[in-house]
Amino acid sequence: MSIHIDPDASEAQLYSDLPSPLILPPSELLENYEPNVLAPLVRCSKLPFRHLTSLYETHITHTPMMLAEEFSRAQIARVSDFSTSSDERGVYWMTPCSGKGKGKEVIRVNHPEDYHSTSYEKCSITYHKSPSSSSSRYERLPPNPTPPNRDSQLVKGVLMAQFASPNPTSLADAAELISPFVDGIDLNCGCPQRWAYNEGIGCALLRKPELVRDMVKTVKGRMGWNWPVSIKIRVDPDPQQTVTLIQNALSVGISHLSIHGRTRHQASTDPVNLDGIKFAVETVNGQVPCTGNGDIWTYEDVINMRNKTGVKGVMAARGLLANPALFANYSSTPSHAATQFISLSTSYGLIFPLFHRHMAYMLESQFSRPEKVWFNSLSSSVSAIDWLEGRGLDWRSQRDTVWDARRGRGTVEHVHI
Ligand SMILES: Cc1cc2nc3c(=O)[nH]c(=O)nc-3n(C[C@H](O)[C@H](O)[C@H](O)COP(=O)(O)O)c2cc1C
Repeated sequence: MSIHIDPDASEAQLYSDLPSPLILPPSELLENYEPNVLAPLVRCSKLPFRHLTSLYETHITHTPMMLAEEFSRAQIARVSDFSTSSDERGVYWMTPCSGKGKGKEVIRVNHPEDYHSTSYEKCSITYHKSPSSSSSRYERLPPNPTPPNRDSQLVKGVLMAQFASPNPTSLADAAELISPFVDGIDLNCGCPQRWAYNEGIGCALLRKPELVRDMVKTVKGRMGWNWPVSIKIRVDPDPQQTVTLIQNALSVGISHLSIHGRTRHQASTDPVNLDGIKFAVETVNGQVPCTGNGDIWTYEDVINMRNKTGVKGVMAARGLLANPALFANYSSTPSHAATQFISLSTSYGLIFPLFHRHMAYMLESQFSRPEKVWFNSLSSSVSAIDWLEGRGLDWRSQRDTVWDARRGRGTVEHVHI
């Protein structure tokens, strides 16, 4: 793609001249562009936080783990577990990895507006439609109107829904219901909690390779062979178990693999096992792209994960909770990320306990001990925002930076409308 830049053009003109972004399936984004990934996070990777991280070079986001059976059976579960918006995926300038062919454009039908207008109302999924989306199909803009280099291409981000299931039919039902809103599903094979293990989901699947195979195969049978289904696993103390699991998953066409470099019994305080991730990547042997996960706290960790393990994607969980701008190479949460989160939570709606928890994660390292105690005692979003403003967070003057939130320009310190 060559972009001619008119030196006299205004910024608005430069944006209006942009080509449509490439819309790629997750495997192709991973294979060709080495994206950054927001991990699935129960309660935390809901729409406002996904949208926030997408403003800061997080190219693939995941929903929290949802129980496939509940999701497919109960309207109330769909309403409480999932919402999305026409704006949540970012648009990025990305440079294809060296030696790789440039990603080919694959326009897929996965957008609610491609479907019958009321299909999402019928299945009770909350879909926030941006006021601008009637005029343009691709309303999100990249942070900058000009490409950073000649090879850069405009690429749209990807949203994956994560499900937990012990049952192929429930997983296929959930996949079918959510398919107009996401770019694929991920099967959780890593949740270590005892209740999950006892239900036969999460970590219990690490040693049930045939069941994992059957679940992926059933979803593919329902959705089509090319419809993206990935799995997220943990490393196993017995490497042969990892080999068997991966071989079974590859045999039914998983689109990609995410590997958390800790075993089922390891605490998150244990250091991540990069050799274990590398072993899984070598087992996959280039058949599908892999994402590495564990202990990504700084941009150096991102580079180290790629160099030491051979993964294409790098996934962060706690690092992004603490600093949603981590992948944009900020060393701690910038104030514009905190203000954007307040705006996003207010416009999409987020219950106070979750809003409060996110703000605490993001800003805790900047609070003194008495401030932490005081912040933890607050009991409403209004009181939390007032308190943060009293501490110098300039939310009100930045709250209407819709344009900014649309294009994900996270580097603007002060915007006065
Ligand atoms: C609050 C929280 C919620 C999580 N929820 C999920 C989940 O829904 N699905 C999942 O596969 N892993 C979940 N995890 C695990 C993370 O996705 C990730 O694998 C793990 O935290 C390791 O990454 P990190 O070292 O970057 O934190 C969760 C972790 C945390 C801290």
